[in-house]
Amino acid sequence: MELLAPFIQKNKELLEEQLRASVNRMKAPEIIKESMLYSLEAGGKRIRPMLLFATLDAFGEKMVRGLLTAAAIEMVHTYSLIHDDLPSMDNDDLRRGRATNHKVYGDAFAILAGDALLTYSFQLIAETTDVDADTKLNLIRELAIAAGAEGMVGGQVADINGENRSLTLEELEYIHIHKTGKLLAFSAVAGALLAGASNLAIEQFKKFAHHLGLAFQIRDDILDLEGNEEKLGKRVGSDEFNHKSTYPSLLTMDGAKKALAREIEQAKKVLQETGLNTVLLEELTDLVANRDH
Ligand code: IPE
Ligand code: IPE
Ligand code: MG
Ligand code: MG
Ligand code: MG
Repeated sequence: MELLAPFIQKNKELLEEQLRASVNRMKAPEIIKESMLYSLEAGGKRIRPMLLFATLDAFGEKMVRGLLTAAAIEMVHTYSLIHDDLPSMDNDDLRRGRATNHKVYGDAFAILAGDALLTYSFQLIAETTDVDADTKLNLIRELAIAAGAEGMVGGQVADINGENRSLTLEELEYIHIHKTGKLLAFSAVAGALLAGASNLAIEQFKKFAHHLGLAFQIRDDILDLEGNEEKLGKRVGSDEFNHKSTYPSLLTMDGAKKALAREIEQAKKVLQETGLNTVLLEELTDLVANRDH
């Protein structure tokens, strides 16, 4: 993590300033801005924005070019967490070390804060200056696909539908790739799009992030069993309580760890094939594999 740690520290600050400023400048009822900021500012690893920034870095681009898109991604992700925690979804009361949004603002304002974060993300990309209209349109289209029923929402539907029964590995893989993988993949693809990368390079980054996204959710499943509540900032044992199939429940803990290692290896192999300077992305891949929160 030699290069990654200072890279994350610096760019996290940049991102968090942008998140705050973007919400603060909205002409909207104070309560919805407060509810949005409550979840946005609770912390979080900001892995998706860092993935976008590290991809820009691989192409030799400046981080500021991706700042609003990175903020948009973190908003979509935060919305997905607020809704994921609702009583009618996973019914969790702790997130990012704080009471979940609906516990503080009630279900209605939690749902609306999620809606507002999702829609604002598209506005932010549309309002980006210094990025040409074609690229912005591509970003908006790819983000919509990644977040909607063909992406994250589709994965969440399959996740809820899969409760209380044992899934096949294929079904579980669909859930993980969609509920988590698609938005992570978009983060890398957005970096490549903003850098004006070739179609081949964009496909390579899609493939890289596909493996990274799967690895990320396998690690999430493992941490739900082995993790520390205080470090994670969310409850452990939530999957078992909600009768979800997970990688460890289907493959045993050992099998899940092997599957994780396989995805990490594949992700790194694709990075090498790009021929770019991907040292930050390699360190980020290791971080995903070994993270304890
Ligand atoms: C948690 O995501 C939900 C999943 C998609 C697995 P993160 O682990 O990235 O959560 P934060 O953003 O750091 O809180
Ligand atoms: C959530 O998966 C994925 C999304 C929020 C889209 P989980 O339900 O496993 O995430 P955590 O464990 O609550 O963070
Ligand atoms: Mg869930
Ligand atoms: Mg959950
Ligand atoms: Mg989980």
